[in-house]
Amino acid sequence: QALADTFIGEQIEKIKKQVGDKKVLLALSGGVDSSVVAALLIKAIGKQLVCVHVNHGLLRKGEPEQVVEVFRNQMNANLIYVDAVDRFLDKLAGIADPEQKRKIIGAEFIRVFEEEARKQEGIEFLAQGTIYPDIIESDGVKAHHNVGGLPDDMQFELVEPVRLLFKDEVRIVGKALGLPDNMVFRQPFPGPGLGVRCLGAITRDRLEAVRESDAILREEFAKNGLEGKVWQYFTAVPDFKSVGVKDGARTFAYPVIIRAVNTVDAMTATVEDVPFSLLQHITERITHEVQGVNRVLYDLTPKPAGTIEWE
Ligand code: XMP
Repeated sequence: QALADTFIGEQIEKIKKQVGDKKVLLALSGGVDSSVVAALLIKAIGKQLVCVHVNHGLLRKGEPEQVVEVFRNQMNANLIYVDAVDRFLDKLAGIADPEQKRKIIGAEFIRVFEEEARKQEGIEFLAQGTIYPDIIESDGVKAHHNVGGLPDDMQFELVEPVRLLFKDEVRIVGKALGLPDNMVFRQPFPGPGLGVRCLGAITRDRLEAVRESDAILREEFAKNGLEGKVWQYFTAVPDFKSVGVKDGARTFAYPVIIRAVNTVDAMTATVEDVPFSLLQHITERITHEVQGVNRVLYDLTPKPAGTIEWE
């Protein structure tokens, strides 16, 4: 805590000195890194920071609302909330290839962010939640989702206050800055979000099934002491249906796949031994509460042979 406070104090001075009375733009996803950067900058320069939260429709249940609540309502930040859900889903309609989906999401994100940036007067800096592992692993297997692709006439000077920190250090700083635990200690979430968990071509009904089933899974893991213990857990919904039965009538609906894994570096992973009774309870809830779903499957595959995500 003392070390975190020293770090925060030093960074606030550094940011004030670098930025002066100019404006800074930040893409605020609500993930740990961008949230900590936002909180630091709000402390240092208040409303000179312009946060842009792009809701691309692929976030988990409750996330966009939490960003608005924490940053606009509690921290009094200058926050622009962009509802880009239709835009993203229109662009993604009919696109089934995972890497193409990632490219579209990344490119559209930059486009929306750029449009918002152009509406702002006098921005000279761009803040980013770059952390130390991003710098050393900058050529990852799957394309990473940051704001590196802005056009040439929009090159800003960068403000990267957590660039020398590891993830666990960023979390400690976030906690010291007063961010809520479920924001600071959240599990990793891919940039393309639920878009790579709504398998194949994204449709609104299956995307909602992913979001609702994921919310149930997270709620049950939290209730049963698995939150913070299991490294990453989520649901995916494939693009095929199977036959089932409900209230004596035949159904033809989607399955939900549960994934829960542990890993150190995400290069290999093992499957969490979730108690069978809990899996049964979650299955019961998902099949009763999630529209258009009639089966639940538990993915037993370690990495390798599978990857953690399904796409
Ligand atoms: P895989 O599926 O490759 O996932 O075993 C390893 C870790 O990386 C995350 N992941 C991503 N993160 N953009 C991201 O920011 C992506 O496109 C992406 N794809 C996978 C995944 O959630 C897991 O933690």
